[in-house]
Amino acid sequence: MSKVLYISSEAFPLIKTGGLADVAGSLPVALLKESQDVRLLLPAYSQVLDKISSSKLVAEYTYYNLPVQILETKLPGSNVIVWLVDCPVLFNRPGGPYADSNGQAWPDNALRFAVFCHAAVDISLNKLGLNWQPDVSHCNDWQTGLVPALLSLQPERPVTIFTIHNLAYQGVFDRQTFNDLHLPVELWHMHGVEFYDYFSFIKGGLAYADKITTVSPSYAREILQPEFGYGLDGLLQNRVHHLSGILNGIDEKHWNPGTDIHLAQKYNRRSLSKKPLNKIALQKQLSLPVDANIPMIGMISRLVQQKGLDIILPSLPSLLTMPVQLVILGTGEAHYEQQLIEWANRHTERFKVIIGYDETLSHMIEAASDIYLMPSTFEPCGLNQMYSLRYGTLPIATNVGGLADTVVNASKENIEDGTANGFILKNQTAPALLAAVQHALSLYQQPQLWRQLQTNAMSEDFSWVSSADHYISLYQQALADR
Ligand code: ADP
Ligand code: GLC
Repeated sequence: MSKVLYISSEAFPLIKTGGLADVAGSLPVALLKESQDVRLLLPAYSQVLDKISSSKLVAEYTYYNLPVQILETKLPGSNVIVWLVDCPVLFNRPGGPYADSNGQAWPDNALRFAVFCHAAVDISLNKLGLNWQPDVSHCNDWQTGLVPALLSLQPERPVTIFTIHNLAYQGVFDRQTFNDLHLPVELWHMHGVEFYDYFSFIKGGLAYADKITTVSPSYAREILQPEFGYGLDGLLQNRVHHLSGILNGIDEKHWNPGTDIHLAQKYNRRSLSKKPLNKIALQKQLSLPVDANIPMIGMISRLVQQKGLDIILPSLPSLLTMPVQLVILGTGEAHYEQQLIEWANRHTERFKVIIGYDETLSHMIEAASDIYLMPSTFEPCGLNQMYSLRYGTLPIATNVGGLADTVVNASKENIEDGTANGFILKNQTAPALLAAVQHALSLYQQPQLWRQLQTNAMSEDFSWVSSADHYISLYQQALADR
């Protein structure tokens, strides 16, 4: 049994902008089930404080002259203890965890997450009077990058794990910010947090953590190449013996079509004939023509370049002449939102775009759709293709990262050997996407075959059990290496 401090800037259901929240809201629960003593550390954003029913004050401290309190609560629906870093000046404001409601990054993000990291470091060293010292401090993404860096300077410290959920977001600030935060000068060099004269939070994790993981085996290989490495491939190559990929699991409590409270009709592998009732319900709700036989293509996504919008938009003129209904739920960059809305306004019978963040609708779309669109340019893991597989909604995906590790193309061979569960694009272009859609539609016309592909998809095991075991082995290895 290890004591694990799991440090994350978001966790479902308390606060979520993307897949990191899903992971931080479910991996600690899985670790606890495997008898690990886990505590989850999160910033006390106003949204988080609104969601919890009660909390107690367990520690107080001051960073940069700002009073900080540590509040203890539980992750809703679980027994995982959550410690919240409460510093109202930094975290209690309207808007998102990283940006205001217009999508502008908070100007004091470096300070916000430096305070969060200092609190994580002091808890890791049992300095805040919590009477608990972790064996492992498990950090996630740039917001936690200073933790391995600062802990590396301490003799009596836990081992550090740094998980990369997305290398494209690095937390880069100017040199002055580093000075203003009074961080130890020993960290400022090219093998430390300095990045071409700038100050990089993520390098603190990549350079100093005892072990680095990322969220799929394929992405762990891809980030060693310049194309996916965003300038950090050299550093990662140097640390390749400490780098591994562990595929995310999915939270079966929330993502199971047999028990999903958001669905008009629950179903499972053996009652797949009930799935189309979800399509009819969504068609009615979105004022689309009601027809259970028309193939529905769904997508739920941050609307950013990563998610393949530059492939999808040029496909729309052809895609919207096909006999399909397309439903996209998302928020993101304004120019993508606008272009999608314009297309939807011109094709109201075929295409619905819902701009916004809507948990219930996201479940309804997964259940209603026949096909899921995920032509990402890169994808560290990707959860939506796994949710889709679980819901018998066959993904159309690019051959990258976690998509490559979970989606098996419906080629003749893979169909014959019973492994096919979706469609892989030949390359990252609009014609390749259209070809994959055509292929999917032709198989959709063969109900028996389609049913077989759905059954293959729904039979995959994406539960957290095996991934949690991989993390536990890694913790043990890191502790043994010390
Ligand atoms: P990423 O973390 O890169 O955004 P993932 O596929 O790992 O991609 O996870 C995205 C998560 O966020 C999924 O749970 C997905 O359903 C959810 N999500 C994304 N956009 C929305 C939205 N507009 N409304 C509801 N849920 C969303
Ligand atoms: C990131 C990645 C996504 C991954 C998620 C959770 O947001 O973009 O691919 O699934 O983190 O690990």
